[in-house]
Amino acid sequence: MRDMIAPLDIPPEQRAVDVQGLSKRYGSKTVVDQLSMQVRRGEVFGFLGPNGSGKTTSIRMMCGLLTPDAGGGQTLGYDILREAAAIKREVGYMTQRFGLYEDLTIRENLDFVAGVYQMDRRRQRVDAALERLGLSARASQLAGGLSGGWKQRMALAACMLHEPQLLLLDEPTAGVDPKARRDFWEEIHALAAQGITVLVSTHYMDEAERCHRLGYIAYGQLLALGTPTQLIERSGFATWHVRGEDVSELARQLRQQPGVERVTRFGNSLHLSSSDHSALAAAIAPWREQAGLRWDAASPQLEDVFIHLMSQSRDNFSPGH
Ligand SMILES: Nc1ncnc2c1ncn2[C@@H]1O[C@H](COP(=O)(O)OP(=O)(O)OP(=O)(O)O)[C@@H](O)[C@H]1O
Ligand SMILES: [Mg+2]
Repeated sequence: MRDMIAPLDIPPEQRAVDVQGLSKRYGSKTVVDQLSMQVRRGEVFGFLGPNGSGKTTSIRMMCGLLTPDAGGGQTLGYDILREAAAIKREVGYMTQRFGLYEDLTIRENLDFVAGVYQMDRRRQRVDAALERLGLSARASQLAGGLSGGWKQRMALAACMLHEPQLLLLDEPTAGVDPKARRDFWEEIHALAAQGITVLVSTHYMDEAERCHRLGYIAYGQLLALGTPTQLIERSGFATWHVRGEDVSELARQLRQQPGVERVTRFGNSLHLSSSDHSALAAAIAPWREQAGLRWDAASPQLEDVFIHLMSQSRDNFSPGH
């Protein structure tokens, strides 16, 4: 696979986040390893990676909540080591498993947050946040009775009260149903259109596809950085679909072929992928003319790219790294 870090093309003044060599160790374990990345002002940046890969730790270093052991950089032009207080004033951070009070209404929850942070113009800020996220009509509903999607929207409203320029959203849609996730993403894009920069971590591929740019991290190392199109192109992946009556036996046989790196089942069809075009073509050749099978060359998906990156990094990973 080619180098998956696309060349940096963001002028310094347009970088909402610009960090170099960030590292964090816990005991003997390096959980973030020399992370260098940039987020462009006004973009929606997706942060992906398996569980425990260092996404939350990286986000916390970028907003000055956690001090790196090495490296540094700027967020919104402020130094992450020395100007953490200024960063906090202009960043909205929605933590993983963000919790609000179930027995308060949406309005009361937002008002409570505004009070805790001693914000001025409390009533005005709460009204504006309710309005901005389409929550005005539900303002007097108890938070406990809201569906997952509305709870997340309320949490986002709480992060918007101080009118931040940058939102750091850590898995904001985990466990939320598809319709609510889609609505939440409409909000993310609407905020970006107003000039707010959004860095969002996610495990969902459909969400990754909705980002302007993506970073993929595994075992603390940034393995890929670029637009979804750049990452698919740079992967050089080949993919095929085959459809048939009973593809179970075919899947079993194809999995044994060299050159077939991954076989994924979708009902009556299989999705095959490989980083070697000619090896994949040779591997499937014996079945190409078989009656009852329909073959189509397909475009690689981000999921193919990320799963490949993850398996490679696992191979390279040695204990004590
Ligand atoms: N305070 C801490 N002390 C010790 N180890 C920690 C601490 N915080 C995080 N870790 C470890 O660092 C690694 C990275 O954790 P992190 O929470 O950043 O991953 P993540 O990518 O956000 O994972 P997830 O997708 O599950 O949220 C994990 O192995 C985690 O156990
Ligand atoms: Mg996390």
